[in-house]
Amino acid sequence: MDRRPIGVFDSGLGGLTAVRSLRSILPGENLVYFGDTARVPYGGRSPETILKYARQDVRFLRTFDLKAILIACGTVTSTSLEQLRRENDLPMLGVVEPSCRAALAATRNRRVGIIATQASVRSGAYERTLRALAPEVTVLQQACPLFVPLAEEGRTRPGDIVIETVAREYLAPLRGQGIDTLILGCTHYPLLKEVIAGVMGPEVALIDSGEESARELQRLLSASGGLGEPRGGGAIFCVSDRVEDFRHLASRFLGEDVGDSVRRVSVEDA
Ligand code: DGL
Repeated sequence: MDRRPIGVFDSGLGGLTAVRSLRSILPGENLVYFGDTARVPYGGRSPETILKYARQDVRFLRTFDLKAILIACGTVTSTSLEQLRRENDLPMLGVVEPSCRAALAATRNRRVGIIATQASVRSGAYERTLRALAPEVTVLQQACPLFVPLAEEGRTRPGDIVIETVAREYLAPLRGQGIDTLILGCTHYPLLKEVIAGVMGPEVALIDSGEESARELQRLLSASGGLGEPRGGGAIFCVSDRVEDFRHLASRFLGEDVGDSVRRVSVEDA
């Protein structure tokens, strides 16, 4: 048994989709979450800037004695996972491979769509991973740059005219293409799942990158004998900007009051 906490990070709220799954499948694990809310979104930035931010995020998390880090961010995973793994001597898991495996298990017609940030789409990481696992698969990709700022603003509910309009516009090129599976390749996007499902229709399976990576982490820890207690785990939430907004939205998304467990930290000189 390993009672050390798991570190989880994202540019903002998106990684909470992984936290939500971790809390339900591994309720005994202690979690330290970092959301870089002062610098969100990462998705429009260059790979060099994203790597620089991600290194600072990891350095901050490693001030805790962690047993593993879950990079609950498609953008950081797509651009920086390999480099971060080389630089760190603890298990690090990203969201790309778990979601690609889940998509391939779900698709029946081998036509898979990916929506993600611009940086993730440009990196080609999802497409490469899917093709490496299943060369015959047809892949369609679409970047959705406004999804992250809108999710951070809490504009996630079906019926919200702004998010509905943006979603219809971004998803239009993917509709009518015969895809039966869509990877929500940015961990913010499952926060918009109902809106996206409403546009894509019930015949398209949506793959939640946060949830799939949480499941993969569970497999990894149980295979290595690294699981913690079976219940009673806690979570600390750290953010790099105002705690109030995060507290409010995080409580809503996690369905639990994160109240006093949110603190503001500085990672730029971590
Ligand atoms: N949740 C991040 C991802 O999975 C959002 C990226 C961003 O900050 O633009 O890609």
